[in-house]
Amino acid sequence: MQDPVDRSRRRFIFQTGVGLLAAASMPAWVRAMEMHGMPKLTPNRASPAFKPDVEIELAARQGSISILPGQATRVQHYTAKLLSGPKDTLTELPSCYLGPIIRLQKGQKVRIHFRNDLMEPTITHWHGLHVPALMDGHPMYIIDPGETFVYEFEVINRASLNIYHPHPHEITAKQVYYGLAGGLIINDEEEARLELPSGEYEIPIVLQDRRFNAQNQLIYGPHMHDRMMGFYGDRILVNGQPNAEFEVASRAYRFRFLNGSNARIYKLGWSDGTPVTVIGVDGGLLESPETFPYVMLAPGERLDVWADFSGRPKGTELTMRSLPFSGVLPMMAEHMGGRGGRGGMGGMMGGMGMMGAMALPVGSDYPLFKIRVTRETGESPKLPSRLSKIDRYTLDDVANPSKPVPIAISESPMAMLLNGRSYAFDYIQPFERIPLDTVQLMEIFHTSGGGHGMGHGMRGRMMGMMGGHGSDAQPEGQGMGGMGMRGGMGMMFSMAHPIHLHGDQFQIISRTVAVERADSYATVKDGLVSSGWKDTVLVMPGETVRMIKPFHHFKGVFMYHCHNLEHEDMGMMRDFLIE
Ligand code: C2O
Ligand code: CU
Repeated sequence: MQDPVDRSRRRFIFQTGVGLLAAASMPAWVRAMEMHGMPKLTPNRASPAFKPDVEIELAARQGSISILPGQATRVQHYTAKLLSGPKDTLTELPSCYLGPIIRLQKGQKVRIHFRNDLMEPTITHWHGLHVPALMDGHPMYIIDPGETFVYEFEVINRASLNIYHPHPHEITAKQVYYGLAGGLIINDEEEARLELPSGEYEIPIVLQDRRFNAQNQLIYGPHMHDRMMGFYGDRILVNGQPNAEFEVASRAYRFRFLNGSNARIYKLGWSDGTPVTVIGVDGGLLESPETFPYVMLAPGERLDVWADFSGRPKGTELTMRSLPFSGVLPMMAEHMGGRGGRGGMGGMMGGMGMMGAMALPVGSDYPLFKIRVTRETGESPKLPSRLSKIDRYTLDDVANPSKPVPIAISESPMAMLLNGRSYAFDYIQPFERIPLDTVQLMEIFHTSGGGHGMGHGMRGRMMGMMGGHGSDAQPEGQGMGGMGMRGGMGMMFSMAHPIHLHGDQFQIISRTVAVERADSYATVKDGLVSSGWKDTVLVMPGETVRMIKPFHHFKGVFMYHCHNLEHEDMGMMRDFLIE
């Protein structure tokens, strides 16, 4: 019971004359909670009426794991214990800081006792799952060290790979970076009928990048430029391991990719040019397999890939690489990274020069992991031509065909914002209130610099969407994303953002890009998977994405935010209130 007392004391201090001084020496999370007016809520307890099919004890704690040769690395990680339910519910990844893979069946009732054994508050979010607002891991539900929050929900999602990770405001990025994350797989009958590769032939591939110091300890301390662009490591870890290699048989595998990086965007491609066969995305299986020359994977996104090594002789080696692309970072950062030929802005932002020293620039060409065929076999499952049934939404299904719910991205040297505001607790704008059981057309687009750089056309357009001025304020028939860009500043700071929406999964219905950005867009566009159910979408500079999202089942507060975790922590996050 010490905490409510503590918090009110802190609040008192903050509100008195010594407030600022005290605030300066407080840990960031205390300041965050104070300044955002987060309430201190009693952690949710088990309800006797709920009869779980699966019961898990999950803890976030500090630990130490051997990652690089030599000294072990201090991490924060999830550990779990199965209290009741099917034996295959938890699978540990060998010597890895990632939490165990949690495997659930659609329809199961799940109770998770989540204990905070860290030295700071945290809360866990089930990224991709549609659960009641109270179970969604909103930052308002943070628990203090020593406390336990009990989650109870029924799995209503279809078969899919999801993520569990922390979601406390302003310290999510740090906690994920130090190791708090895990995969959560849902299985259902539709998927089971396909008899896709399973067991040792279904491989989770969690991609992350990290920086280590000479003592093998993780380095994380984002400076302003890191916060603006995201924090990037100089080394790739796959399932927590450096220099990852997989030994395979000459047959088909199911590779389940999850980008668990704070900020890094990958362009996945096989070293020998074999096309990438995608069978699923964030929200599960596609209707039928699709092949791509390469596929983009942004933080928070997942890809289900059919990797067929049939006919490859023993000894074959193949590498999954991240291939070159451009345009995801602000222009001057890319130039200073020493890759662009355009130059000329060199002196403008000293801090961004750091990018030049980054060993593994975003969009450069580097290996992710190696495949080695060590066993030949003539037996392999065949790729099904039909995977799942998806009811596709059209504009006829939406409540607001001519007035999409806006998600406006504004970018400036000081802040990345959504819908013109930084995150604030309990501050819902009128267009962020969504009636329950409606299907909504939504549009993600870039404004410009979020202030002086914003063109008049874009300003009118935002106001129109946000309910101010009716549709006459929305200019017609122009390259939408482009308009604000012409303001100047905005164009320079514009970058890619993986935008994630909690709650139900959505369907992407269109993507358009401003002509000014067509060149860099061309380096990624053939790898954007836009079919199927999604919860996170990579929005490139100058790009406008329209999607349709149902708001079913649960009332309450559900977040939307950038899944570049440094951006999220900086406040590029907002709430929808479903009512
Ligand atoms: Cu993966 Cu709101 O987060
Ligand atoms: Cu962002």
